[in-house]
Formats: sequence, structure tokens, C-alpha cells
Amino acid sequence: MTLPEDSRLAIVILAAGQGSRMISRRPKVLHRLGGQSLLRHVHDVARDLEHDTIHVVYGHGGEAVPQAEADLRVHWVEQQQQQGTGHALALALEHIADEHQVLVLYGDVPLIRTATLNELLVQHGADDLSLLTFFADDPEGYGRVLRTPGGRLLAIIEESDADARQLAIKEVNSGILLARARHLKGWLGELSSNNAQGECYLTDCVALAVAEKRAVYGHPASAEELCGINDRVQLAAAERCYQQRMAELLMRCGTTLADPQRIDVRGRIHVGVDCHIDVNVLFEGEVTLGNEVHIGPHCVIRDTSLADGTVVHSHCVIDGAAVGSNCRIGPFARIRPETRLAEAVQVGNFVEIKNSTLERGSKTNHLSYVGDSELGQDSNIGAGVITCNYDGQKKHRTHIGDRVFVGSNSQLIAPVRIGDGATIGAGATITRDVAASALALSRVPQRTVANWQRPGKPGSADKT
Ligand code: UD1
Ligand code: CA
Repeated sequence: MTLPEDSRLAIVILAAGQGSRMISRRPKVLHRLGGQSLLRHVHDVARDLEHDTIHVVYGHGGEAVPQAEADLRVHWVEQQQQQGTGHALALALEHIADEHQVLVLYGDVPLIRTATLNELLVQHGADDLSLLTFFADDPEGYGRVLRTPGGRLLAIIEESDADARQLAIKEVNSGILLARARHLKGWLGELSSNNAQGECYLTDCVALAVAEKRAVYGHPASAEELCGINDRVQLAAAERCYQQRMAELLMRCGTTLADPQRIDVRGRIHVGVDCHIDVNVLFEGEVTLGNEVHIGPHCVIRDTSLADGTVVHSHCVIDGAAVGSNCRIGPFARIRPETRLAEAVQVGNFVEIKNSTLERGSKTNHLSYVGDSELGQDSNIGAGVITCNYDGQKKHRTHIGDRVFVGSNSQLIAPVRIGDGATIGAGATITRDVAASALALSRVPQRTVANWQRPGKPGSADKT
């Protein structure tokens, strides 16, 4: 179904500014919130609205922004010189038909929610210009909203152009606005840069629309969603706000958090029910938890899935792993990419696993390195075992069958295969394949010298 021209929505995200207050070599909209760029947050909210096109105005940092976010399905509009928000929007409007509604979002206002924008679209109805405002405890840095004593919207005055009385106003402009392209083109054509910053302010459209006796409304909405990010202090505050949201979302999905203030989600997390997450756990990338997964304190879980009933004890780093149900991991375990653990696998303290598969019921409980290996079912790796996978030039694989017992402090020098049911005696250095059910020993026979007199240090009386 194609929508009639006059109900089509074009979304413009302004993201060309430098963000000089960030003191950064990176364009501001590429700074991260919850592990993703500010721009991506705004984009994702825009994408969830029923819309026709999304245009992103970029400029500062050249191609850095479109390159960093190349997978976004948007129309990129370059603003070579940052002459202000009005100028930025005018460039995007060259690509938008007159009858389209235009929703303007700011790349540095990333906490806005789709629901709030949908509400704005409804409130706007047949009005000419709608903007979202909010009440700020500390309005510093924002454009102030000027209204008549009766509350009618008059204008937005930028901070650097405001007088003392205007500076005291707590209602501020969020930057987000909605109007028809035809009207915006008209107003922007009349803008001047005759102001303190010498810029073409989009916000001046409000006074122009009021002068034309248009239906212009400022709709106050939640300050939490509308705060802008201009410096790193505001970025940190927004990050806390975002993490609080993530924590609430997890709890509403049936996860218990030991402390909602001490969890960080930098990416996306999908959870079953009755998971329990202890303090200071960091999730990165794409993480999936099944039902009743328990994660102890101080863990980092990145791009990993943990199936039902799995327990991760404290201080584990798990990156790029697929972990089956009812596994026990840690404390102090490190699991690296390309690792798959089947059900009921146990990985204990000071164990590192990389690019390996451990089948059901296998255990490696203490101080071992398992790299580039396959381990069958119900096998047991003793303390201090190392798969020596690297010969200085190439990586080689270690294949360990089912029900294998590898004694403590053994080294398995890859490439090597250990057959089902084989036993490796403690302290072995295994350089050749071991057949199924065999016992392999390589230890030096013990020699005992009776009544051994230990040489003393010169001048020492120690003769015991
Ligand atoms: C702007 C508003 C202010 C509002 C505040 C809300 C104007 C003139 N002022 O001020 O009323 O209270 O946001 O957060 O709009 N940008 C461009 N091209 C430019 C300049 C800016 O694309 O030439 C982009 C920036 O990348 C940014 C957004 O527009 O994403 C806002 O620019 P910024 O300089 O941060 O404006 P503020 O001073 O915060
Ligand atoms: Ca800003």
C-alpha cells in the first residue's frame, strides 16, 4: 500500500556538527552510549516509526560518520560547512517532496523513545509546526522556550542570544520538531545568521511560523528522553540513564538483578525467565541467556549464548561462546571465541578455552589451557593440562575422544589424537596418538637416594 503524499513521513537526523565541547577527534555522533554510537540510537528509534525515508546530515569529520555506520539504510546528505541546524535541514529538504511531513531529530539527543515520537505525530494532527520541549532543572546550553503569559508558543531563543530574564526560563527546546516540507522550506529561506553564533538556526522557524499565524505548538515531554549530549559529563549521565532503562527492561522480562545500578549492557541482550545476575556484570555485543541462568559478580559476557540452568561463577570472561544447558563455569575462567560447550560441561578456576568444543559432561576443572581442541563426552582434563597448539608457526588441533582421562600437568602436543577411554598418566608429554582404551605414560622414573645430605651454603651452619 502506498501512502498518500501528504501523510508520508521523511525523517531527518542532524549529525554534521563537530561537538566541540566533547574535546575529541571523533565526530560527536560516533561517541558511544550503551556500546553503540549516538547516531545509531537515534536511527533505530527513527526506523521503528512508520516512515518513508531517513536522511542523515553529516559533515564534520568528512566520511568518518557514513563509513563507521555504513550498514545503516539511510540517505546520507553532506553538509560541508557546519553553518547551523537551519542550514543542515535545508540541505536535506532538497531531497524531500513538498507535501511530505518532516520529522527532525538531533543526532545528539539519543534517549528519545519511539512511543514519544508516535505521540507527537498524533498530537500534531493537522497543525503546522510541533516541537518537543522539556523542563530542565539546569537549562544551561539549551534554547529557551518563549511563551505568552497565556502559554502560547512565541519563539525559541538560543542561550547565547538570551537576556537574563530569558535565561531563567526552565522550559527548553529539545530540537525535535515536525512540520510539512513545504513550510520548512519557506521558513528556512527566510532565516539569517544574524545572531551571536553567526549560524543559521533552525529554531528561528518557530517565530516565523508564529508571525504567519500558523498552528504552532510546543509539547512538553520527558526530560530524561530529551536531554542532549554536548560534553562528556552529559554523555556519562546519559549512559547511566540508558543503563537504568536496560536494567528495568531486564527486570520486567523476569530477570533478578542483585543491584540494578551495577549492570551494564553494551549491545543487545535476550533473556529467558528467572535468570539471576549479580553485581558488576558487563554484557557486550549480542548476548542470549536461557531460563534460570545465574551469573556471579564481576563477569564480562560478550557475543555469547548461555542455555538454561547454566551457572557462571564470579570473575569470568566469556567471549564468543555457545554454552549449553546446566554448565558450570568459573570462578576465574576465560572462554575465548569459537568455543562450544555442550550440556553439563564444567570449566573451573583459571582455565582458558579457545576455539574448542567440549561435549556433554566433560570437565576441565583447574588451571588448564584447552585451545583448538575437540573433547568428546564425559572426559576429564586434570589440573594444569595444556594443549600445546602452536609450534611457533602454525596452530594444530588436539582431538580427545569420549571418557578420556588426562592426568594432571600433562601436555598434549598437537596435532594429536587421544582415543575413546584412553588414560594419560599425570605429568605426561604426549607427542604421538594414543589408541582407544590405552594408558600412556611418559614420566621419568623416580629415583630415591636415601639419607641425602643437602649441600649447605658456604659459611652456613645449616646441616639438617
Ligand atoms: C540545539 C538547539 C537548541 C536546543 C538543543 C537541544 C539550534 C540552533 N539550537 O542547540 O535550541 O535546545 O539543540 O539539544 O538548533 N548540526 C548539524 N549541522 C550544523 C550544526 C549542528 O548537523 O551546522 C547538528 C549537530 O550534529 C547536532 C545537532 O545538529 O546533532 C544540534 O547541534 P548543536 O550544535 O549540538 O546544537 P545545540 O547548541 O545543542
Ligand atoms: Ca546539542
